[in-house]
Amino acid sequence: IKASFVGIGKIGQTIAYSAITRGIFDEVILYDIIPELPEKFEHELRHALASLRIDTEVIGTNSIDDVTGSDIVVVSAGKPRKPGMSRRDLFADNAKIIINLAKELPKRNPGAVYVMVTNPVDMMASVFAKYSKEYVISTGDQVESMRLRAYISKILHVPVSQIDGFVGGEHGEDAVVLWSTVTVNGKQVEDLPKEQIEKYVKSIPGDIIRVMGGTTWGPGTIIADIIKAIALNENRVMSIAVPRQYEDEIIHISIPTVVGSKIGPTLEDHLSEDDRWHLIAAMKDYYSVYKDMLKSIKTEG
Ligand code: NAD
Ligand code: MLT
Repeated sequence: IKASFVGIGKIGQTIAYSAITRGIFDEVILYDIIPELPEKFEHELRHALASLRIDTEVIGTNSIDDVTGSDIVVVSAGKPRKPGMSRRDLFADNAKIIINLAKELPKRNPGAVYVMVTNPVDMMASVFAKYSKEYVISTGDQVESMRLRAYISKILHVPVSQIDGFVGGEHGEDAVVLWSTVTVNGKQVEDLPKEQIEKYVKSIPGDIIRVMGGTTWGPGTIIADIIKAIALNENRVMSIAVPRQYEDEIIHISIPTVVGSKIGPTLEDHLSEDDRWHLIAAMKDYYSVYKDMLKSIKTEG
């Protein structure tokens, strides 16, 4: 398996480190526009791989021409939000980068699966799909799903391995906990403090950004898990967003989905009516915001 990481700032480095040290790739390309950064990061990873005795070939480069022949391309190029910003505020700036990559990457990587990480991640996946016509998933709410499980484990003092559950919808403030999927020791629990849990899932990344300058270890590990599920054909259920036609656009909204070398089906039919209703509302809201955002980048030229 050959994987390429496009944009190796804070989150790109963490995802790459976490995925590469699992020993799942034969070859890896690290690409960024900052001079020397990919090359020096290559050395760091080579040192880590020497210690782990993993024989992956890693190349760091500032040339997009080296990003070729990949099976999986992970895109985390672009601006992160600052405290007080919403992820949607990054749309205009990051869309420019993603549109450019959508034009440059496909001709060099035929048949690759693209994994979008850049925020607003669902909309950046939709923009990439629109301008490239390639298959792209958004890492979406798998990150929120793990935040949900971690928090329930913490407040109930139950090992996290015994907690299940997913968050769906748009990655960010409009994510919805899919309560019909939430179980503790395999059973649904009636009296969970739902509002408190939802508040944590939505607010913790902003709090981490305020203090630590960005989220890294959590999403880095979770996104590496998504990549591993694809690379090793694990067929794991994960709350990611696959492309779906909605009116005249391709949109990305997270739903628990089987993730392997083929991605899908989504498991929306297994959700409660209430959870499905929330997802349908999320799609409608996403579509109208996304249309406005697309218009705004067109008028900006
Ligand atoms: P960062 O500023 O540390 O890194 C961004 C990197 O992108 C920089 O190294 C920059 O040089 C590079 N870049 C910019 N334009 C590029 C281009 N055209 N080609 C290649 N590289 C380019 O930011 P970060 O903290 O790593 O965050 C990156 C993005 O990922 C942000 O949009 C952030 O919001 C998002 N993010 C998403 C998740 C998630 O769960 N989906 C988690 C964390 C961060
Ligand atoms: C996250 O959820 O960690 C990322 O989307 C980064 C952010 O919160 O902006």
